[in-house]
Amino acid sequence: MSEFHSKIKTVEWVKTGDLKGVSRMVDQTLIPYEYKKVDITTTQQMYDAIKTMIVRGAPAIGISGAHGVALCAIELLEKDEQNFTDELKKGVEYLNSSRPTAVNLSWALNEQLKIIEKGGTKEQITKALIENAIKLENEDIEINKKIGDFGAQIVPKGATILTHCNAGALATVGYGTALGVVRSAYAKDNTIQVFADETRPRQQGARITTFELVEDGIPVTLITDGMCSYFMKKGMIDLVVVGADRIAANGDTANKIGTCTVAIAAKYYNVPFYIAAPKSTIDMSIKSGDEIPIELRSEEEVTIINGKRICAEGVKVINPSFDVTPNELIKGIITEEGIFKPNELHKLFMKS
Ligand code: MRU
Repeated sequence: MSEFHSKIKTVEWVKTGDLKGVSRMVDQTLIPYEYKKVDITTTQQMYDAIKTMIVRGAPAIGISGAHGVALCAIELLEKDEQNFTDELKKGVEYLNSSRPTAVNLSWALNEQLKIIEKGGTKEQITKALIENAIKLENEDIEINKKIGDFGAQIVPKGATILTHCNAGALATVGYGTALGVVRSAYAKDNTIQVFADETRPRQQGARITTFELVEDGIPVTLITDGMCSYFMKKGMIDLVVVGADRIAANGDTANKIGTCTVAIAAKYYNVPFYIAAPKSTIDMSIKSGDEIPIELRSEEEVTIINGKRICAEGVKVINPSFDVTPNELIKGIITEEGIFKPNELHKLFMKS
């Protein structure tokens, strides 16, 4: 495990020749038992990696999608495909259908589509798609560090920060959004600590957030999802910082299922609730959270733990993977350009 540290690249383009490469990623289905990287070499493999959550977390999914388009171009080039651009666009659409909620995926795919639209020979397009994927990959880490530094300003001395799911290095290319805030705050004040919600059903909090923070030596206490209000009532949580999969123009925010419950408890107990996310997570094309597509995942994620059924046979199950926290429960949205109130997001897009 010691290979892991916060400077890790969760997803990385590795050049294997002229106009050739692979997307090397941490297999997050194995954490915390094993820390292993896999090479993704085709569009189909990338679709499957995103769908089965070998790679997960909104920004990491986005960059993987960008890599997927570069892999698609390489495949089409090797096949000497005559309808290169049309087939490439089909590949983009296919990748976009792998997971619906995190808008970072369609954002990154759109960035690649702009390259395709510019045109050129098959080789020129492939080269440009690879270069753009690497550029987006590198920018992601820089963006997270900026989010971390803005966020660190609102962390009180010696604070206990509650987080839900994993918005860390492993949910991004590196450093993290919510855990980026934690990392930047901890660099200034090593008396802060984290409470991590377990995050049922896939336990990203227990498996991935605690893994990252323990590896980095940042104090972390694991709690189950239902415990947050207990600790808030006791005055043991100073603020909540979570990531986001999609933020609507009015600031309503989709994040891992259970996030809204935390936000409601935080409001009741007067604990400030923050979202940490890059601009690419903000979807100004939708007015409110009602328009955010919510992924429904398999029943087995709920009924089976470690290969064992944990409930009666025949019971009905429903498994929405995300919920939407209404804007009025959010104190601020920490981005790479500063901290904004939910009703101020338009300002972020007026500048550019
Ligand atoms: O289903 P997941 O594990 O992809 O869900 C991840 C989350 O909900 C994260 O909080 C979100 O993507 C932000 S990651 C910086």
